[in-house]
Amino acid sequence: MLRTWIGDIVDQSGKEADLFGWVDNRRDHGKIIFIDLRDKSGICQVVFGPWSGKELYEQAQKLRNEWVIKVSGLIKERPENMVNKNIPTGTVEVEAKSLEILNSSLTPPFEVTTDGHDVGEEIRMKYRYLDLRRPRMQLNLNLRHRVVKFIRDFLNEYKFIEVETPALTKSTPEGARDYVVPSRLYPGKFFALPQSPQQYKQLLMVAGVERYFQIARCFRDEDTRGDRQPEFTQLDLEMSFVEREDVMELNERLLIDLVKNCTPEKKIQQIPFPRMTYKESMDKYGTDRPDLREDKNDPNLLAFCWIIDFPFFEKTDEGGWTFTHNPFSAPRPEFMDMLLKKENIADILTTQYDVALNGFEIGGGSIRSHTPEALKKVFEIMGFSEDRIVKNFGHMLEALGYGAPPHGGIAWGLDRLVTLLSNEPNIREVIAFPKTGDARDLMMDAPSELEKKQLEELNIEIKKPKK
Ligand code: AMO
Repeated sequence: MLRTWIGDIVDQSGKEADLFGWVDNRRDHGKIIFIDLRDKSGICQVVFGPWSGKELYEQAQKLRNEWVIKVSGLIKERPENMVNKNIPTGTVEVEAKSLEILNSSLTPPFEVTTDGHDVGEEIRMKYRYLDLRRPRMQLNLNLRHRVVKFIRDFLNEYKFIEVETPALTKSTPEGARDYVVPSRLYPGKFFALPQSPQQYKQLLMVAGVERYFQIARCFRDEDTRGDRQPEFTQLDLEMSFVEREDVMELNERLLIDLVKNCTPEKKIQQIPFPRMTYKESMDKYGTDRPDLREDKNDPNLLAFCWIIDFPFFEKTDEGGWTFTHNPFSAPRPEFMDMLLKKENIADILTTQYDVALNGFEIGGGSIRSHTPEALKKVFEIMGFSEDRIVKNFGHMLEALGYGAPPHGGIAWGLDRLVTLLSNEPNIREVIAFPKTGDARDLMMDAPSELEKKQLEELNIEIKKPKK
């Protein structure tokens, strides 16, 4: 017989059920023992009493929190005065007929039935597999799953296809430090883990995919913060034959529908989302990700906004130029001439659009340069030599030369979005196995040293680390 989900027993009174799960709680009332049994679908009360017989009763006495058991029994309506309004299965209970202990449990280092806000982060991360048992974390994992599923279904309707791109690649200039992987076959050479699939998704446009998306893992070796992780997830998408307006409109629709579907309790403050130029936002709010909520105490208010018309370039400390967002972006069409002539560089505006939510940047993208000439000019303005341009970006310039369609896209910070939708204080709460604030995995104890043999294979010698 297939197992019965605990969450389903509420309208099955009179039936026999086989339940599997964890002991959430045991209450010994002399002649009667109550067990709260938990599986991923819910919690229910199991009762052992005189009808269970001596052997079963003694077995039930042994049970402790977090033991894993199988219980078979009869689902029964509870008398009116015994109904527990706090749990969805509170109108019924299960009269145990047999019990099998599938595994015992060590005493957990913290309670897994509370919200966990009072438990130290280090211990939560070390025992993350226990921490994830809390209902709050299960809800977060579930919400994340529903968000991703909604995105996939929505984009599928619009003829997007999901394409995986490599994790072992070459460094992309996205402004952060790369995580690198040494190559065993090519001593002294390294792969870089992608900071984003930026170049691959553009190459997919050259390849005629036209509408690509990916729930993509990105890696950036930068200081961790509440809204930043060394590895994080983007909804990454790219479209051919579009203008700025098309990408913004599609993403706005996706965000609105997603909120309605996945978190119907939330209210979007303003639709269509307000738009502001970078200059307006900086002048008025002193930031390019303003928090526009009219009532900041309302946990269910979502104030999305678009920021557009960013400057393409900014001065470096050394007096040269660098890009503000993305070197692969195209300028606004009216500034293309200036870019090609490398004139009035400070005035050139990019097609970049960012989407902010309640004071966090949750996404950004742009229309790209789809001709080699335009892309090359960006690197020239940044002072790259011909040699360096060819070495670093020759493949992109060459690809754009083979009939690259006009294209543009965006990437959302998926962890950030789910964090805001779940009212969590930081993105670690919506990632199953995040890194700590100081970029470690305490559960696996990573990063860690390698065996001498591995280092030899990789041709790597470790200098004494600086203290
Ligand atoms: P960008 O670098 O702006 O753009 O990244 C897109 C979104 O990803 C989120 N994000 C992060 N989330 C968690 N931890 C991090 N360390 C982190 N870094 C960024 C942010 C951000 O808005 N290739 C371009 C996109 C494009 O142009 O299509 C890109 O990666 O929410």
